Amino acid sequence: MNHTKKIITVLAGCVFLLLLVAWVPGKKSNRATSTGAADASAATSANDQQISSNMQAMFTRGRQIFRYDTFGDEAFWGGTLHLQQAIAGEHLGGVGPGVSPKTALSVGLKVDADALPASLVEQIKAGKVNMDDPATTVALLQLNSVLGVTGIFDKQGKLQSMGIQCAFCHSTVDDSFAPGIGHRLDGWPNRDLNVGAIVSLAPNLQPVADLIGVDVATVKKVLGSWGPGKYDAELDVDGKAFQPNGKSGATLLPPAFGMAGVNDGTYTGWGSVTYWNAYVANTQMHGKGAFSEPRLNADQFPVGARAHFNQVRNADDQITSKLAALQFYQLAIPAPKAPEGSYDKKQAELGKALFSGKAKCSTCHVPDLYTEPGSSLHTPEEIGIDDFQSSRSPTKKYRTTPLRGLWSHQKGGFYHDGRFQTLDEVVSHYDQHLQLKLSDSERKELVEFLKSL
Ligand code: HEC
Ligand code: HEC
Repeated sequence: MNHTKKIITVLAGCVFLLLLVAWVPGKKSNRATSTGAADASAATSANDQQISSNMQAMFTRGRQIFRYDTFGDEAFWGGTLHLQQAIAGEHLGGVGPGVSPKTALSVGLKVDADALPASLVEQIKAGKVNMDDPATTVALLQLNSVLGVTGIFDKQGKLQSMGIQCAFCHSTVDDSFAPGIGHRLDGWPNRDLNVGAIVSLAPNLQPVADLIGVDVATVKKVLGSWGPGKYDAELDVDGKAFQPNGKSGATLLPPAFGMAGVNDGTYTGWGSVTYWNAYVANTQMHGKGAFSEPRLNADQFPVGARAHFNQVRNADDQITSKLAALQFYQLAIPAPKAPEGSYDKKQAELGKALFSGKAKCSTCHVPDLYTEPGSSLHTPEEIGIDDFQSSRSPTKKYRTTPLRGLWSHQKGGFYHDGRFQTLDEVVSHYDQHLQLKLSDSERKELVEFLKSL
């Protein structure tokens, strides 16, 4: 009894002390705790407030850039390749038949339903909008509703030029309105997008041919070899369009979500997210900026070296000042959670144990990042595949893919070039290569776990 009393007295004393500490003027809400959970909403100092408002500003600006910024690349897509003329068609002052919304959707372009005025939505629903007329495509561009494509119009409303954005390849829609039309899903790779077919429409491909050092017919053959959901981000630095087995050298469009905490960016670990953003904006989108990369030397990258991609400097730099916010936004995009019912929970639980146990997956795919913290590069031999794509990177290696959100990009297959059609094929590959001796049910359990990530 006495003992209990003592404890109560001590406890009461502690509570009193805590209250006293909390009461100390001005210290109330700034007190950090070891759990780190306490102070999320308590930014009271001027410095804290500055950080907080910076966060909001970077996020908002970064999203704007990711979705809408062309970095001045309309000088290339519109000004040089004249792609807008093929979209408009000859009836609207361009060339050829033009691109109808039906055609645009069939090559994987997506429409942001939230950018459409209510009246147009009603008309589409009532079947009163001509989806076979390129004029409708031009109207959709005027509404800034085509993901990753910006039309540039003159005062009379004529399509003058066009540019592309990050969202072109790394966003899709949820199809909530109709197939290809819905709310934006930033960061999701557009595995329907046929980049090659779209670029192929350009009336003037000569500059691309000159850049790579081939003729236009060859450029068209290469573009035609990519297919939906793929792009070759190294072609215009090394000129290697095809694998030795004759297959295309293009890679799958990867997600741009779930990148926070991930050290190495790209399938072959070219560099960090912000490194790669600068690479893409300057050398792939052909925006106007600055980029430094001494590894783009003439031995491994004859095409890039010839184009001076190793040292890009534009007087009118429209990229560098945007890199900070752009990176910030991407790091904020979470990998999407697997929908309820999309995988077998019991089997996934068993698969989880295998992943970090018998199947040895977690030696490279370390939970919760599912890639290695620190260096995540491996030789082709380590993962049991050829060295075609790794040899196209300065690292000569493959990066352990962060697996979160895997369920959302199963279309097009797995590994950098989609060589494995299903997750079961991926697991079977590891089973053989790492001699894991997994049973049929163990393989199934691993697959269910992968689908749950
Ligand atoms: C024409 C399509 C296309 C456009 C436009 C594009 N990307 Fe990519 N992106 C790719 C491809 C393909 C890869 C994979 C390249 C590789 O691994 O060799 C990639 C890789 C990435 C990665 C690395 C993902 C990972 O798993 O490590 C990030 C991040 C990224 N892009 C962000 C961006 C941003 C930001 C922009 C705009 C500045 C952009 N991309 C524009 C096609 C595109
Ligand atoms: C030695 C390191 C290593 C081990 C061990 C390993 N992986 Fe991988 N994993 C990689 C690398 C590297 C890639 C990228 C391969 C590519 O893109 O060509 C990859 C890619 C994948 C992909 C494809 C992701 C995508 O989006 O295309 C899946 C799925 C995967 N691994 C699952 C597993 C499973 C399951 C195991 C265990 C049976 C495992 N990995 C063991 C390194 C490893």
